[in-house]
Amino acid sequence: MHSYEKHKVVSCYNLTARKYADKFVAELDEKPFDRFILDRFAKAIPPSETTYEMGCGPGQIARYLHHNHGLAITGLDDSVEMIRTAEKLHPMIPFVVGDMLNLDLPSNSVFGIVAFYSIVHFTLKAVAQALDEFYRVLKPGGIILFSYHVGNEIISINDFLETEGASTDWVFFETDDIVQIIKDKGITIEDVVTRYPYEGKEHGSRRCYTILRK
Ligand SMILES: C[S@@+](CC[C@H](N)C(=O)[O-])C[C@H]1O[C@@H](n2cnc3c(N)ncnc32)[C@H](O)[C@@H]1O
Repeated sequence: MHSYEKHKVVSCYNLTARKYADKFVAELDEKPFDRFILDRFAKAIPPSETTYEMGCGPGQIARYLHHNHGLAITGLDDSVEMIRTAEKLHPMIPFVVGDMLNLDLPSNSVFGIVAFYSIVHFTLKAVAQALDEFYRVLKPGGIILFSYHVGNEIISINDFLETEGASTDWVFFETDDIVQIIKDKGITIEDVVTRYPYEGKEHGSRRCYTILRK
C-alpha cells in the first residue's frame, strides 16, 4: 500500500537537486509534444496575468514559458535545494518554497497553473487535494495543465540518480481514475491527451497531459 510520505519526497529531491537539474534542465529540446502543449497553455494566458508552476523542480518548464512566451511565472516547490538550484539557473524568474497541497495563496488569484510530473509521488487522495488547491487559487476563466505517467505500477527507487539515501516511490495513474476525480469535482475538462514515450530520451512510460478550466 503506497502512502505519500512528504518528508521522504522532500529529502529525495534535496539530495538530488543538482543532479536532477543536470539531467532534466534541457529536456524540452527533445520533447516536441511537451513544447506544443506548453505553447498552447501559454497562449491561453493574458500577458498581465500571473502563472505558477507547482512542483517546479529545477524550473525548466517555468523557464520555457518565461523565455518563449514572456509569462509572468513563479516556480513553487517544497524542496529547498530544488528552489536554490532553480534560482541559480534562472535568476530572472521568482521561485518560492511551498507545499502545493496547502498553498499560501489567496483564492481566485492566479490565472495559469502548470504542474509537470509533480503529482508523481502522490496517492489518488493527494491528487484530489492538489486539484482542490489549484482550483481554489485559480481565477474564473483560468487554466490548469498537469501531467503524469500512465499505468498502475508503483516503482520504489532507492539511491535515485545514484545518490545514497535518496529513496522514494514513483506512482503511475490510470487516466480514468484521474478523470473521475475531476468529474466528481465538477471541474471542466478541456483536453486529456496521452502520448507514447520518446524512446531512448526518457523513461519508457506513456504520459498524460490534462487541461482544465475554471
Ligand atoms: C518528478 S519532480 C518534477 C519536477 C519538474 N516539474 C519536472 O518536470 O522536472 C517532482 C517535483 O515535485 C516536488 N513536490 C513533490 N511534492 C510536492 C508538494 N507537496 N509541494 C510542492 N512540491 C512538491 C518535488 O520536490 C519535485 O521537485
